[in-house]
Amino acid sequence: MSKPFDVLVVGELNVDLILNQIDKFPEVGKEVLADNMTLTMGSSSAIFASNLSTVGSRVAFLGRLGHDNFGDLILSSLQARGVDTTHILRATTHNTGATIVLNFSEDRAMVTYPGAMNHLTLPDITADALQKARHLHLSSMFLQAGLRKDLVTLFKNAKDAGLTTSLDPQWDPAEQWNVNLQQLLPHVDVFMPNINELKAFTRQDDLTAALNVIKPFARNVVVKHGSEGAYLWNGKELLHQPAFLNKDVVDSIGAGDSFDSGFIHKFISGASDQACLEFGALTGAINTTRPGGTGAFESLALVKTIAATTFNYSF
Ligand SMILES: Nc1ncnc2c1ncn2[C@@H]1O[C@H](COP(=O)(O)OP(=O)(O)O)[C@@H](O)[C@H]1O
Ligand SMILES: [Mg+2]
Repeated sequence: MSKPFDVLVVGELNVDLILNQIDKFPEVGKEVLADNMTLTMGSSSAIFASNLSTVGSRVAFLGRLGHDNFGDLILSSLQARGVDTTHILRATTHNTGATIVLNFSEDRAMVTYPGAMNHLTLPDITADALQKARHLHLSSMFLQAGLRKDLVTLFKNAKDAGLTTSLDPQWDPAEQWNVNLQQLLPHVDVFMPNINELKAFTRQDDLTAALNVIKPFARNVVVKHGSEGAYLWNGKELLHQPAFLNKDVVDSIGAGDSFDSGFIHKFISGASDQACLEFGALTGAINTTRPGGTGAFESLALVKTIAATTFNYSF
């Protein structure tokens, strides 16, 4: 029986309210002015889902939102990129999460209200939802307080239901890295940390030593390494993919999520390891040519144009 979706993305949802060109850093009891403001869909999971849909996979999202304007903005942003939102749960009990970003010269301060995303729990991810997709992707495990303790069960359920799986852990804001990878990774087909996250998880200070810690129980491990590109340990050998050189980086917000979307798009189509890495590196680099995580992924036509004109790459 054919399934309606290629990938079910389970994860956090929030908006980013970004204030730029602030005349002075705010102090308690005083007021400062910002010259520029952007309100946009944030969250690693949503950037991943959005860009994966743009490059051609059929994507559904499962997460939690409040019944508020920020929730509406996120729904319409996902829908505008073709992501199915029928599995997104909304309730009045908690408002939609938001990150307020204050950009001040080279520095920034951020305040996050997690809100509804904290309240996604294992029973929300029903067997019915899992069965509609071929692949499960989860991002930002440390931001999902209600789901964290049940991640092993979630990934095991997905594997038992015949899905392939991937996990981008993202940074642990508490820097505790308190996860039993030995139990979790056997159910994760593609584990996708960046180099700093992998080092922190394993308490090692280089790639080889860090990989050696998880090799006995990991399947595929993709390690993102910024402008050095990415590595893939596939259980047999360590492959390296150089980054596509972008001399004019606008910002690298969401580069890792965009990398994930390119890699997983190829992975679920059965492409070779090197082809998955190469397309991930391409979508990661494309991400850096426009502001934010989804700016370069407005349409497949735009992605192809940037690939051809900036990176001399056609697909
Ligand atoms: N400045 C850059 N130029 C070209 N490609 C980049 C650049 N920064 C990131 N990338 C690509 O995006 C991928 C993910 O970026 P990275 O910063 O390592 O992830 P994360 O955002 O998770 O920290 C990299 O592996 C690389 O292929
Ligand atoms: Mg990342």
